[in-house]
Amino acid sequence: MVRAVDLAYRILYRALLSRLPERAAVSLGQFGLRALPIDRLSIWRSDDPGLAVTLGGVRLANPLILSSMYYDTRILGRAMGLGFGAVTAKSITRGPRPGHPHPNLVRIETAEGPGLVNCNGFKNPGLDAYRRALGALPRRIPLIVAAAGESAEEYVAVIRGLEEFGDLVEINISSPNTRLVYEWSTRPAALEELFVAVRAATAKPIIVKISPDFRQTNEETIVPAALAAGIRIVNCGNTRRVDEPRLSQKSGGLSGPALFAATLENVRRLRDRFGTALQIIACGGIDAPERARQAMAAGADACAYFTGFITRGPILARLMLDALSRSSK
Ligand SMILES: Cc1cc2nc3c(=O)[nH]c(=O)nc-3n(C[C@H](O)[C@H](O)[C@H](O)COP(=O)(O)O)c2cc1C
Repeated sequence: MVRAVDLAYRILYRALLSRLPERAAVSLGQFGLRALPIDRLSIWRSDDPGLAVTLGGVRLANPLILSSMYYDTRILGRAMGLGFGAVTAKSITRGPRPGHPHPNLVRIETAEGPGLVNCNGFKNPGLDAYRRALGALPRRIPLIVAAAGESAEEYVAVIRGLEEFGDLVEINISSPNTRLVYEWSTRPAALEELFVAVRAATAKPIIVKISPDFRQTNEETIVPAALAAGIRIVNCGNTRRVDEPRLSQKSGGLSGPALFAATLENVRRLRDRFGTALQIIACGGIDAPERARQAMAAGADACAYFTGFITRGPILARLMLDALSRSSK
């Protein structure tokens, strides 16, 4: 049955979703997730208790995390039944943001497989509206709420407003689509202050999401500063900044399997350098069961992905869980 669903999605993706204009494919996919109660089926989930992990003291039934992209709570609620150990909400800003104009998402075929380039620009309803939306979201599995901002005050306000709805809090200092967010990595002194301020703003475990574009700074400055402030979980990482003339901003964030080699290398290096002081979420290009297995074997505590959810469909989580179960036996 799992194989049949996998095959059916491959056909759907190849024959329809990958051929529609990107904007139409996104609308259709999100409409399907909102409308179809697929999460009532048990096929997506694994009941292997051996897959459970602990992240920042929070128990996840398995190490797979839906990475930050969706803010619609109907979709997040649905995703909570699709096999993940946790789901991440979109990075929220203090005020509402319309995001960048279309085209803000394009497909890209890379040597490693299908990817995306986006310049979404944090389209989101802003803190106050999102608090109301999250209040209605049933918490079937742990939720990671996420904050982005251009000043420490903005992160602190968003974290204080969202923390009650999340089991963990992610701070996004790495999205390449908003200049001031991306540039946090070039301002180490300001980042130190940011980490201290956000650590003081919540008792929930904090994840700092870093950029694959700043490997050396991540290792030498950003992760040590996070640890010094008491932030013990790193997500590596966000999309990689690339030029893309088809997008309205002429550049965007590359996601998908082209990132995987660097993700694996980053996990290994961070684990070697920081040992068990740091928990690591591998993210970037994990779009196949073998890649999830490799990321965990390289020292990750958990694996997050988004592009694979689109290109391989919701059944990917189950395929990964089965592979992880097999490799742990
Ligand atoms: C359309 C789109 C929107 C995204 N929005 C966010 C966001 O709001 N916050 C964030 O931290 N990452 C965001 N990401 C990055 C993903 O969470 C993830 O880190 C990245 O895509 C790499 O993982 P992947 O290769 O599995 O997709 C977004 C990615 C895409 C494609």
